[in-house]
Amino acid sequence: MNANQALWEKGDFTHIAASMRQSGESLVAGLGITKGLKVLDLGSGDGTTALPEAQLGADVLGVDIARNLVEAGNRRVRELGLTNVRFREGDACDLQGIEDASFDLVVSIFGAMFAPKPFDVAKEMVRVTKPGGRIVMGNWIPNDPTLVAQILKISASYTPPPPEGFVSPMTWGVESHVIDRFTSAGIPKEQISFFRDTYTFDFPGAPSELAREFRAYYGPTMNAFEAAQKSGREANLAKELEHLFVRENKSGRADATSIPATYLRVTVRR
Ligand SMILES: C[S@@+](CC[C@H](N)C(=O)[O-])C[C@H]1O[C@@H](n2cnc3c(N)ncnc32)[C@H](O)[C@@H]1O
Repeated sequence: MNANQALWEKGDFTHIAASMRQSGESLVAGLGITKGLKVLDLGSGDGTTALPEAQLGADVLGVDIARNLVEAGNRRVRELGLTNVRFREGDACDLQGIEDASFDLVVSIFGAMFAPKPFDVAKEMVRVTKPGGRIVMGNWIPNDPTLVAQILKISASYTPPPPEGFVSPMTWGVESHVIDRFTSAGIPKEQISFFRDTYTFDFPGAPSELAREFRAYYGPTMNAFEAAQKSGREANLAKELEHLFVRENKSGRADATSIPATYLRVTVRR
């Protein structure tokens, strides 16, 4: 099986996504979505941004490599009785079956950044966007001191080195790499813009409990714990992560969690 697919199917991102709904809705509210707009939500998970896009009237296709998340997304669609959004399996590196220039807006919030071939991803996103349309990406930033960049950094330090040729997903958080990828896909540099924004993780429990959700359900952290167990460093990893979640908690309470995390918002005009 595709290692990228195996990583995300191993966990269950719905448990993490539950803490990200409010920021997803706020982000989507600022995208200027109008009724009938054709939106592709790439690396959609169970629909944190795709469902609000549909609730604003867009005609939405969610594409994700993890079949469990596609199923979870379609379940949420049925529960909400929405008819203008559906989820299907697909790979951001190769959007087979999706025609050229078929979307007004392509959104990928912490999604396509995890696909292994970034130049192919940029090419595919550009290919399926209509001329005059937009691509909006949310990408975590390497070495940023806030939550997710630090989780990924800590997790990587407990995991064996990746195979030769592996390109870190975090490179999508570096403006020069983003520019290289989209200019190679034919987009003039002036049509690419950047903005640092915040996503907040809200959880109705202690920060250590949210850390445990990441340990149990977030693919990259699960892999780190597996490796740490083999090297006898499991307790160190658990402690490092718990310390991070407690430090970043801005709720002002010990029994509730609110953690803002900085990300790079990329907007590309096609
Ligand atoms: C951190 S989650 C974000 C999910 C969602 N966008 C959200 O904001 O809740 C990353 C998502 O990207 C998906 N993903 C990873 N690699 C992918 C690929 N090559 N093609 C499509 N989806 C991918 C994962 O399955 C997962 O759902």
